[in-house]
Amino acid sequence: MEGYGPATYGDTIADVYDDWYDARMQRPAEQALLAELAGAGPALELGVGTGRVALALRAAGVDVHGIDASEAMVARLRAKPGGADMPIAIGDMADVASPATAYTLVYVVFNTFFAILEQHDQVRAFAGVADVLVPGGRFVTETFVPDVTRFDRGQRTSTAQIDASTVHMEANMHDLLAQRVWGHHIVMRDGLPTAFFPVHLRYAYPAELDLMARLAGLELEARYDGWERAPLTDLSPSVVSVWRKPA
Ligand SMILES: C[S@@+](CC[C@H](N)C(=O)[O-])C[C@H]1O[C@@H](n2cnc3c(N)ncnc32)[C@H](O)[C@@H]1O
Repeated sequence: MEGYGPATYGDTIADVYDDWYDARMQRPAEQALLAELAGAGPALELGVGTGRVALALRAAGVDVHGIDASEAMVARLRAKPGGADMPIAIGDMADVASPATAYTLVYVVFNTFFAILEQHDQVRAFAGVADVLVPGGRFVTETFVPDVTRFDRGQRTSTAQIDASTVHMEANMHDLLAQRVWGHHIVMRDGLPTAFFPVHLRYAYPAELDLMARLAGLELEARYDGWERAPLTDLSPSVVSVWRKPA
């Protein structure tokens, strides 16, 4: 996708993001695990977005900082209670570099780590995270477990939602060798122009994430099927991984 950069997803989706993902706003198990691992903090969220997770954690007493490439997403966060004074760096999370702060927890949720589109940049992100963690600190990711059977001859088109005047579809292309998916949410509304919301991902299997962690000097501490900490199985659609920087 020519012209697609780190800010493209957020800048395009910022106006509708909180409405579309309203069902993800209240996730007590997610907050509980992150708060437990953050301990005394501070914590850093990569791809902090509109603050869905970070603001809830801050309200629970964790000093959360953020990085995001999209000014439009961060503007939404700033407008919410507790968002105005949250320390946030605008930039690419592949370049994790913190102004002299060491974190007890760095986390990146909702598949956002896969928004780093090159393997070498994902490796660099792990190294940057390891650099900003205190000894004994944790890095947590929430990522989908890749399922290439979703794609038929390199593509998948599906319908996400339909109502009386709207059709919301998802059209994706898949490159098996590059582990990359690129596509659009497409929203067609009666009487309005069709709207496109581009999404571009480079996915990785849990074993590859472990290798990136190992290259960065991090050790796998726990791996769950979701925030409720159920054991991961072959059928798990999503995986929460916890790596630890040796003390
Ligand atoms: C799916 S949203 C998740 C937002 C928030 N973490 C949540 O869970 O609601 C992904 C976020 O990552 C940001 N993002 C995508 N690629 C990025 C990159 N390379 N560097 C920094 N932020 C990025 C987007 O702007 C967006 O805010």
